[in-house]
Amino acid sequence: MKAIIVTDQAAGTAGMTLAERPEPQPAINDVIVEIHASGFVPTELEWPSTWTDRLDRDRTPSIPGHELAGVVTALGYGTTGLSVGQRVFGLADWYRDGTLAEFVAIEARNLAALPGDVDFTVGASLPISGLTAWQGLFEHGRLRAGQSVLVHGAAGAVGSTVAQLAREAGAYVIGTGRAADRQAALGFGAQEFVDLANDVLEDVGAVDLVFDVIGGDIGKRSAGLVHAGGTLVSVVGPVEARPADGLAVDFVVEADRAQLGEIVQRVRDGRLRTHIGTVATLDDAVAAFNPGERRPGKTIIRIRP
Ligand SMILES: NC(=O)c1ccc[n+]([C@@H]2O[C@H](COP(=O)([O-])OP(=O)(O)OC[C@H]3O[C@@H](n4cnc5c(N)ncnc54)[C@H](OP(=O)(O)O)[C@@H]3O)[C@@H](O)[C@H]2O)c1
Repeated sequence: MKAIIVTDQAAGTAGMTLAERPEPQPAINDVIVEIHASGFVPTELEWPSTWTDRLDRDRTPSIPGHELAGVVTALGYGTTGLSVGQRVFGLADWYRDGTLAEFVAIEARNLAALPGDVDFTVGASLPISGLTAWQGLFEHGRLRAGQSVLVHGAAGAVGSTVAQLAREAGAYVIGTGRAADRQAALGFGAQEFVDLANDVLEDVGAVDLVFDVIGGDIGKRSAGLVHAGGTLVSVVGPVEARPADGLAVDFVVEADRAQLGEIVQRVRDGRLRTHIGTVATLDDAVAAFNPGERRPGKTIIRIRP
């Protein structure tokens, strides 16, 4: 099968190449999915799991990409809950070959049904940003209606989903980002916007929840904005400063079939929209991940037309 592979961590996305790889075989409780569309987060190439297995052994050449939408073509030994021919979408294991390929072997529990009226391109854009936003807001952040949420990077893939889900849940949403992101962030549901380069972050006052996708100095300063009893949730590693009288949580997103179902239902009924920028073929994927200039929105690779 055709796949994008990486062998050299230092090369970043420039080191991606299109190659021929053996088709994957299904293990216990796996399915094989014929991939129609795949999502990729550039920071994957910094994650140890792209380069080594769970015992820290080299696993290159590895196939990156962890979001997929496609059709089940085979079941592994003992696999239940999905059937051959079913449309699915989901989040692939960080430590296994991923989704920038024609086929992937993936545990069935990492997938959910993709309704027939949701395009594969949209399906592939949802798992990481959707599940990260959901788990950060509702599991780790325990968000309730009436609370205030500071959403960093509110025009980005994760932040735009956080802003929309938080608004729908009845929260007051303050988005942040670059000056050029203001209109996009407000369009995704932020009621206020802080331009991190030109406004004073501390002017937002105290909030119940901070959702941090930026970290560094912004993350540290955000700890001081959390109300007593509030929470700082980070998806960019362990927090460097903790709220004086609140919780700090950093987490890595996990697959969850029920949550994928909640997320895709919101896309179907118009409560949630994804921010897709470039759509490219597998043959053009390397160029799409190495654009000359920054392009807004998520890049999705359409493996099958
Ligand atoms: N732990 C997890 O499970 C998990 C899951 C998903 C994502 N992540 C991580 O979360 C981060 C965000 O992911 P994403 O897919 O949402 O990325 P993204 O689409 O690039 O969104 C990030 C947004 O924040 C903005 N931003 C970044 N630094 C900024 C700064 N210093 N000042 C103002 N705006 C800034 C970006 O603007 P520019 O594009 O202009 O820089 C962009 O709009 C990544 O590091 C990713 O690895 C972690």
